[in-house]
Amino acid sequence: MSEKTVRVELDARSYPIHIGSNIWEKHLLPLTAKAEVVLIADDNVAEQAWFVPLREKLAAGAAKLVFLQVAAGEKTKNLTVFANLCSSLAQAKISRRGKIVAVGGGVVGDLAGYLAASYLRGISFIQVPTSLLAAVDSSVGGKTGVNLPEGKNLVGAFYQPSAVIVELEFLKTLPSRELAAGTAEVVKYGIIKAPNFFELVKNGMPEDLSRVIEKSVSIKAEVVANDEREETGLRAILNFGHTIGHAIEQTAGYGNWLHGEAISVGMIGAAWLSHRLVGLPLSVVREIHAALTANQLPVAISDLQFEQLAPVIAVDKKSTGKAVKWVLCPELGRTVQSTEVPEDILREAIEICAGRKEF
Ligand SMILES: NC(=O)c1ccc[n+]([C@@H]2O[C@H](COP(=O)([O-])OP(=O)(O)OC[C@H]3O[C@@H](n4cnc5c(N)ncnc54)[C@H](O)[C@@H]3O)[C@@H](O)[C@H]2O)c1
Repeated sequence: MSEKTVRVELDARSYPIHIGSNIWEKHLLPLTAKAEVVLIADDNVAEQAWFVPLREKLAAGAAKLVFLQVAAGEKTKNLTVFANLCSSLAQAKISRRGKIVAVGGGVVGDLAGYLAASYLRGISFIQVPTSLLAAVDSSVGGKTGVNLPEGKNLVGAFYQPSAVIVELEFLKTLPSRELAAGTAEVVKYGIIKAPNFFELVKNGMPEDLSRVIEKSVSIKAEVVANDEREETGLRAILNFGHTIGHAIEQTAGYGNWLHGEAISVGMIGAAWLSHRLVGLPLSVVREIHAALTANQLPVAISDLQFEQLAPVIAVDKKSTGKAVKWVLCPELGRTVQSTEVPEDILREAIEICAGRKEF
């Protein structure tokens, strides 16, 4: 199968994203040869058959290999686990030349990335995303960090990996619910930037995920290259559906809904707001709804309440001063940002997200 490479262009911090089948050895082993390597994975990933040769071959080529296993799930992305990992690196005497290899989904990637950003004020790290969400989104762009009890991703750093290696063979063991969750971000890229790509994925993902991943990371790479630290507002377009989505994740408690599932419902809300406020045709709102459904994603969560979500939305970290910055979509492929979302229209959107309002 052919291999693809997309580059994230960030001057000295530029890096490649390699996508393909049976490519990991070719790309990972030269980067880790004779190095002090810290391999981080969660319990589920560590028990996959493909993980054994990965670990063994890394160990064989490295000067030293430290393997750190964390519990699977969003709850692991916290400051206590982070501090324990820092101590493990210090105890293993990992030097500034150490390299962290994060193998797993977005949880391990965000946590290991923040560890790489912080330990000895920054050591190199390589992302090997093994969930679809991590492959198309979280492994690219340099956002790393952990959650606080007060909210998701409240502590972290912008810190770019030195390479991203998307091994399609690893993705094959991903549970189907997790695979579906990853498609939410894929559909999002189509909505915000690429109407033709939306057409490609609106009836479900094509068999060959390499095209989907390549297009998704190309869009993300372009956005990140133009606004690495979310300063100009361009990168914020990636947050379409995330304002309500994050509030759902938080009010439903970490872990009840997968990130992609919450974002799916959040995108329904954002599509409705876009219809009411910036003229997105109702037919397109329905198309987005159909596309998410076709990709086995939830499009409503029945117990959502405005009274619960609104206060959480108000403290969303993307807030600018007092006003929340919403990403809206006037037509497929184009976004605008607005702080003007009247309360009654937000109520409507949440009624739709709860499945209580027809449209
Ligand atoms: N940094 C960013 O820019 C960014 C962007 C989006 C999301 N995120 C973060 O990503 C996280 C969600 O990522 P996720 O959806 O990958 O969740 P995750 O890391 O929890 O992985 C999902 C589940 O799949 C398992 N898994 C992963 N790969 C597997 C494989 N190949 N085979 C079998 N099991 C496998 C994991 O063990 C886990 O149980 C959230 O914390 C979210 O905040 C970060």
